[in-house]
Amino acid sequence: MTRQATEDDAKQIAELLKPHVESKVLLHRSTEEIKQNLDKTLVDVDAGRVVGTVSLVFFTPSLCEIRALAISPATQGHGIGKRLVLAAEQMALSLQTERPMRFFALTYTPEFFERCGYARTTKDMFPEKIYEVCNFCLRKDDCHEIAVQKTVR
Ligand SMILES: CC(C)(COP(=O)(O)OP(=O)(O)OC[C@H]1O[C@@H](n2cnc3c(N)ncnc32)[C@H](O)[C@@H]1OP(=O)(O)O)[C@@H](O)C(=O)NCCC(=O)NCCS
Repeated sequence: MTRQATEDDAKQIAELLKPHVESKVLLHRSTEEIKQNLDKTLVDVDAGRVVGTVSLVFFTPSLCEIRALAISPATQGHGIGKRLVLAAEQMALSLQTERPMRFFALTYTPEFFERCGYARTTKDMFPEKIYEVCNFCLRKDDCHEIAVQKTVR
C-alpha cells in the first residue's frame, strides 16, 4: 500500500536509504531532513514495514524533482518503484496547480525511469538544481548521474 509518510516512518525511511547512501547511489539525508520533508514523501508499506520511499522537491511551482527513491532489496522488481514514482507525480499535481508540470530525476538507473515514461536529457536543462544543489555537492566534479525528465500537461 502506498501512502503519505508520517513521523513514525522517518527511522525506517533512513534505514531504507542507508545502504544506497553507502554505495553512493543516493545522497545522505539526516533523520531530521527526512522529517522536515514528510509532507512531500510517500512510502510503500507491506505487512507494517516500509519497503519503499520517494520524495518530491519543488524548485519552482512547475519544476519538481523526484528524489530519494529507494525500494528494499527484498522487494525490488515487483512494481513498487514505478507505483511510487507515479503516485509522487500525482501528489505533486495535487499540490501545485501550474501546468505543464516538469518532473526530473538524476539517476544511475535511467532505464527504470524510462519505464515510468521519462526520457533522458542533460543536467543543464535544470539550472535551478545546479545552482541550488549541485554546486554545493562534494561530488560535483565527479558526477555520473543521468538526467531524466517527464512533462505532464
Ligand atoms: C531503481 C529502483 C527504484 C527500481 O524499483 P523497483 O521497484 O525495483 O522497480 P519496478 O519493479 O517498479 O520496475 C518498473 C520497471 O522498471 C524496470 N526496471 C527496474 N529496475 C531496473 C533497472 N535497474 N534497470 C532496468 N530496468 C529496470 C522493470 O523491469 C520494470 O519494467 P516494466 O514496467 O517493463 O515491467 C530500485 O531498484 C532501487 O531502489 N534501487 C536502488 C536505489 C536507486 O537506484 N534509486 C534511484 C535513484 S534516483
